[in-house]
Amino acid sequence: MEVSLTGHTDNKLCIVMVGLPARGKSTIARKLRENLAKDHIGCRIFNNGQLRRRIRGQDTSRPEFYDPSNEAGMKLRERIALTNLDRARRFLENGGQVAIIDATNVSRKRREKIESFFNDHNILFIECINNDDEILDTSIRHKIRLPEFRGLSADLAMESFKQRISYYKSIYSPLGKEKNFVRLDSLNNRILSEEIADEVPFYDQIRDFLVTDSVKNLFLIRHGETYFNLENRIGGDSSLTSNGIRQAEALAKYFQKKNIPFIFTSKKKRTIQTAEPIQRLQPSCTIVPLEEFNEIDSGVCECMSYEEIRHQMPEVYYARKEDKYNYVYPGGEGYVTMKERVDRGIKKALFLSGGAENIMIVGHRAVNRMILSHFLYRRTEDVPYIYIPQDKFYHIVATQYKKLFQLKPYQ
Ligand code: F6P
Repeated sequence: MEVSLTGHTDNKLCIVMVGLPARGKSTIARKLRENLAKDHIGCRIFNNGQLRRRIRGQDTSRPEFYDPSNEAGMKLRERIALTNLDRARRFLENGGQVAIIDATNVSRKRREKIESFFNDHNILFIECINNDDEILDTSIRHKIRLPEFRGLSADLAMESFKQRISYYKSIYSPLGKEKNFVRLDSLNNRILSEEIADEVPFYDQIRDFLVTDSVKNLFLIRHGETYFNLENRIGGDSSLTSNGIRQAEALAKYFQKKNIPFIFTSKKKRTIQTAEPIQRLQPSCTIVPLEEFNEIDSGVCECMSYEEIRHQMPEVYYARKEDKYNYVYPGGEGYVTMKERVDRGIKKALFLSGGAENIMIVGHRAVNRMILSHFLYRRTEDVPYIYIPQDKFYHIVATQYKKLFQLKPYQ
């Protein structure tokens, strides 16, 4: 048997997720498992929440169950945690290499228990941190569709989940004393701090997976034809024409057989109207409008046609032509100033979709160029000219193992 530098008798690893509910722990656990599997490393997730739902179902949707002063609730949760630790140990002893304990594990006390339970194995703690209120709200809204909240109205379920979070907050202690840990900004895939005292097996791979943006299948669509498009007008909040509606319906049919759990749009009518028919043909699909995906704000030129700009504001027209990427519309934006918000939108979409097999973004011409350039290298001066048609979409795959960019017709 191999003896590691830490004195542990093998190169097995127990990963312990840490974080408040709705911080992306399960998504990261799944991402680790999928990527480790590609490297033929046997990994299994032990999720306390799933076990709790199996044992007690709806019974545990009440927030009082999570009140640290509720003895019965605490006892049951401890028992579930121990059952999963036992299972994880058996998995590691029977050929498994990496066991992931997917639970909040927010108190130091709970983590000390885990440390002593696994004192003969390597342990790596991963804390997921995300305090963006808008993301949390959307994420909780999605979570309350779980069967355990079936008996409650949406408002009550939201309240109950938020109360549950505040109970966890009351016993929260961030990582710091543990031997091997990573504190991760789980929205931006950024490591905030790390401490690795032992030779943690597979750490290089794991670290790399944690910081990489990955998307299995992203369908990037431009909204259907609008009344403004017919007149070559920019910006505004125009609706789809009947041709635009037909395009949206054709998209809906095209994607009917794929499971699209999330469609991210801008807050503009034209993207939402394009997403709606697609949503209607899906069994379960949420449209999430994000401001970050709004079209470039053309400031003083909003709602004008390119011809009108050329005649009425030639200095704007020609200056933009000269350096389209860096030109900023007076009172508005330029590609250069949109980058940060569009990147933020991409991070939000990836976080909210929780590693789903397929996601869709319905955006605009300039926004879609920026989204494409996030995944596909282009010199900045070429970004404002990327081809973004309305009768085709981009299929993007960007993982450590595969990169794909394909422009496809849908009708
Ligand atoms: O469809 C028109 C549009 O989305 C405008 O709203 C926007 O200003 C423009 O395209 C962006 O394209 P370009 O940067 O090439 O002007």
